[in-house]
Amino acid sequence: MANKWGFPLVLLSLVIAVLNLAEAAVPAIFILGDSTADVGTNNFLPGSMARADFPYNGIDFPNSTPTGRFSNGLNTADFLAKLFGFEKSPKPFLSLNSTSLLKWFGGFSFASGGSGLFDTTGQRMTKSCIPLAEQIQQFSSVRSNLTALMGPVATETYISKSLFFISIGSNDIFEYYRSNSSIPKEQFLSSLVVAYENHLKTLINLGARKLGIISIAPIGCCPAQRLFNATGGCIEELNDHAKAFHSKLDVVMNKLSAEFQGLMYSLGNAFEMTINVIQNPLAFSKQFFLVNGVNTVKHEQKNNREGSMY
Ligand SMILES: *[C@@H]1O[C@H](CO)[C@@H](O)[C@H](O)[C@H]1NC(C)=O
Ligand SMILES: *[C@@H]1O[C@H](CO)[C@@H](O)[C@H](O)[C@H]1NC(C)=O
Ligand SMILES: *[C@@H]1O[C@H](CO)[C@@H](O)[C@H](O)[C@H]1NC(C)=O
Ligand SMILES: *[C@@H]1O[C@H](CO)[C@@H](O)[C@H](O)[C@H]1NC(C)=O
Repeated sequence: MANKWGFPLVLLSLVIAVLNLAEAAVPAIFILGDSTADVGTNNFLPGSMARADFPYNGIDFPNSTPTGRFSNGLNTADFLAKLFGFEKSPKPFLSLNSTSLLKWFGGFSFASGGSGLFDTTGQRMTKSCIPLAEQIQQFSSVRSNLTALMGPVATETYISKSLFFISIGSNDIFEYYRSNSSIPKEQFLSSLVVAYENHLKTLINLGARKLGIISIAPIGCCPAQRLFNATGGCIEELNDHAKAFHSKLDVVMNKLSAEFQGLMYSLGNAFEMTINVIQNPLAFSKQFFLVNGVNTVKHEQKNNREGSMY
């Protein structure tokens, strides 16, 4: 197997990768989630309806290249990676083959547009997307590849120092809301957060110790949702779900950090981060568009463009 992979080359790449990353605050970032974090995973899912590899996605990228990001330019995952000293988000796991996979040590992105905490979420609407459980399975296979390469101790250290960034949950709520489900709201949200807790426990058992979690933005204010309100206002019920989701997740994170020694986490409140901009855009002097429910994108007034909806 060693010959097939070209072991010496891989080890050399590892050294180079480690040297390059000397500036970064963590050895690697692993990204999981939905379209708010996807940097091109779904480009590799033939027949998926949740794709963004065509104009005008990426219009503010160099050469206005669509990359698969559901955004005009960099997305939340990219900005987070930049803050940690990386150039941008790690590459989609699916973009790498068995050779290139083992040469890339800055982490991977497993995030897949349309996906959710529940396995069924997005499957009908998108025809194809990767649910969080399967994203974690993909991480698990990377972990076994690293173990084969570096040994269990080095792998454990590497993973425990790496950041796991997760942005997911909106699609589960959209689907529940649209389905006119007979399951009471409280019960639905509780089961959603239990699903989240179980996913996090799986990740923790695989060695994750640094979690960066972002909750759900004011999804009732997505342009696509506001179309359903005669006044053009935000859909209050969706926003209420987003707020309640954050409160429940806060409790779960507190519990997990008490349960697992050495667990560090940060829970970002995407609702609070964006609602002011939506409710009071003029206070921010420039014009903001809500893209994808999370990314607030700045445009000069004179450079006005039509907002996109996902
Ligand atoms: C794997 O990907 C690398 C980089 O894209 C490419 O150069 C190489 O030819 C690929 N190898 C195989 C076996 O497909
Ligand atoms: C990585 O691990 C998975 C699961 O054990 C295995 O199927 C795959 O072949 C491995 N890939 C490489 C490049 O070793
Ligand atoms: C939910 O109810 C609304 C209004 O009664 C209806 O228009 C819509 O088709 C229903 N959706 C589903 C998925 O049943
Ligand atoms: C529609 O928007 C208005 C504000 O413009 C708000 O008061 C109302 O609750 C919204 N309707 C729904 C169904 O959320």
